[in-house]
Amino acid sequence: MAYNLLKGKKGIIFGALDEFSIAWKTAERVHEEGGTFVLTNAPIAMRMGKINELAEKTGSVIIPADATSEEDLDALVAQAMETLGGKLDFVLHSIGMSINVRKGRSYTDQKYDFTTKGWDVSALSFHKVMQSLYKADAMNPWGSIVALTYMAAQRTFPDYNDMADNKAYLESVARSFGYFFGKEKKVRVNTISQSPTPTTAGKGVKGFDGFIAYAEKMSPLGNATALECANYTVSLFSDLTRKVTMQNLFHDGGFSSTGVSQEVIDGFTE
Ligand SMILES: NC(=O)c1ccc[n+]([C@@H]2O[C@H](COP(=O)([O-])OP(=O)(O)OC[C@H]3O[C@@H](n4cnc5c(N)ncnc54)[C@H](O)[C@@H]3O)[C@@H](O)[C@H]2O)c1
Repeated sequence: MAYNLLKGKKGIIFGALDEFSIAWKTAERVHEEGGTFVLTNAPIAMRMGKINELAEKTGSVIIPADATSEEDLDALVAQAMETLGGKLDFVLHSIGMSINVRKGRSYTDQKYDFTTKGWDVSALSFHKVMQSLYKADAMNPWGSIVALTYMAAQRTFPDYNDMADNKAYLESVARSFGYFFGKEKKVRVNTISQSPTPTTAGKGVKGFDGFIAYAEKMSPLGNATALECANYTVSLFSDLTRKVTMQNLFHDGGFSSTGVSQEVIDGFTE
């Protein structure tokens, strides 16, 4: 169902790789709600070509940018404002990648070059995106910036590896930059802490299938899907949440507040 919640709003959506991506679903929902946007992803991700389908479907322009490159980000912000005809109202940072995870290195056997690169892509990039927006004065008052995170920032999930530390950093950046963006520009900054979701990044985590099934049984409302995450993001981009800022918002069917569920107890009872 569409409510025209984002009518006339303009923005940038980072991280739509394929139709499973949380950013892909968000782009579709933002489009349905009347928002217009530029799609962006790392130049290397463009080669897969899928993003063109999304651009066509949503009437969007694609501007490649490596989210670790200040130069790319400054160019992206300038071009996005030019393409969309003015300042921006929303930005989605939906980017994550751990080379240690990809290469099968455990948390206790990290290659620190990989750690540094993963941190740059997954965490520092959020600061870089916001600094580009801030310096260019690219956000309209009452705009909204959202990044996606995971609860491993607060509690240990061993196979989430160095991404746990990256997410803790990301969430801290949201609070710190949220202060300055709030004070100076009346812009809100939040992170959404999403349930495990079967995407390319999600499935890269070791033991993902067992883990998502466990989370489903532990969540009173069940795991939140990518589409449900998109809907939540739309609400945060809308004018209905103007005073929500500097928050880490759990979107996980209640997982983060549940100690144990009956289904999990039953699994241990003969
Ligand atoms: N899938 C899950 O279980 C889950 C749960 C909680 C949070 N998240 C977070 O959601 C966000 C989106 O991930 P997803 O699950 O949709 O997976 P995804 O693999 O579809 O998206 C990750 C995106 O990051 C992009 N990216 C990687 N390096 C980049 C760079 N240098 N510059 C620009 N973009 C780059 C990729 O191209 C890809 O589009 C991530 O922050 C992820 O950590 C995912």
